[in-house]
Amino acid sequence: MAKPVSIEVWNPCGKYRVVSTKPMPGTRWIDLLVQQDCRVEICTQKKTILSVEDIIALIGDKCDGVIGQLTEDWGETLFSALSRAGGRAFSNMAVGYNNVDVNAANKYGVAVGNTPGVLTETTAELAASLSMAAARRIVEADEFMRAGLYDGWLPHLYNHPFSLLPSLLVVMFTVYTLGQTVGVIGAGRIGSAYARMMVEGFKMNLIYYDLYQATRLEKFVTAYGQFLKASGEQPVTWKRAASMDEVLREADLEAILINCSRGPVIDEVALVAHLKENPMFRVGLDVFEDEPYMKPGLAEMKNAIVVPHIASASKWTREGMATLAALNVLVCLFQSYEQEGLNTNGLVAAKRVFWRSGDNRLFAPSCSHWLFI
Ligand code: GLV
Repeated sequence: MAKPVSIEVWNPCGKYRVVSTKPMPGTRWIDLLVQQDCRVEICTQKKTILSVEDIIALIGDKCDGVIGQLTEDWGETLFSALSRAGGRAFSNMAVGYNNVDVNAANKYGVAVGNTPGVLTETTAELAASLSMAAARRIVEADEFMRAGLYDGWLPHLYNHPFSLLPSLLVVMFTVYTLGQTVGVIGAGRIGSAYARMMVEGFKMNLIYYDLYQATRLEKFVTAYGQFLKASGEQPVTWKRAASMDEVLREADLEAILINCSRGPVIDEVALVAHLKENPMFRVGLDVFEDEPYMKPGLAEMKNAIVVPHIASASKWTREGMATLAALNVLVCLFQSYEQEGLNTNGLVAAKRVFWRSGDNRLFAPSCSHWLFI
């Protein structure tokens, strides 16, 4: 028998029981659920990562929907528990859903939602920040300053071999090169936003790999190239690579690798060895292979910048993610309730941000859809 976990309850008499495995930023998401007659239970247990047993205890015997976190293992055990409790909806408060076994959700008839859109620019900004910090050795320079080692300006102090950026940067959706080429692996919403920042901001050429053609991105780079040409400057260019390797081949030993997607896409032991052998190769990591842990040696590497999975961490974005997660659950509940003849006016717009598991398509909302609901 799992131990009870501590909770905070909103609208105790609500008809539908919705559980959030973590307190989430803002109150909009709570208001939306309460307005729709949900009793909202928020887990307040002082434990960063909840176990499957903890979440089973939270689900209990009757639960209509759950909002969960990317640190949780949403597979067979949890979806069967949710289904047994009458639950029909689960939303990750994240755009990524590698912690969710969608097949298991399908098997138990639980719809799955994620929170795309609101975090696109914020995540791309962190990738750009890591790119700059790695290129200009900002963390090292900050440590140098705080250690009282700065005794005057010198022509060679913290010089980067290039004027701006190194030869190639791979951000898990991205790779980039010094003032010439940014490589993007995965040119979806976030990868494209990052690519635009780097192409426009630093006049870099673009090489990208994605299963799908990034038409809008290509058009953007083409138009920007034409603009530069008309101003008498060197135009920027783009190329769609046929494989990831084609992008990675652009990287030399002074490249920068950025990962803002998920940790396991990089072999971290091999990365540490590469960083040791090539001190001018740099990496900026927001995510880790065995998150929250780092592989031995990584923390000691001066040519690595490591931050704790904060790519979407702005107040506006995280509140937006929480709101979307609540809407995902509500829309799903109300789709069932519509069939029972209940009034679901006011939630129509939210359907646009809803992804039903099994459908295999993500609907990219523009941010305004949920803001004005
Ligand atoms: C964060 O990693 C997310 O997927 O939203």
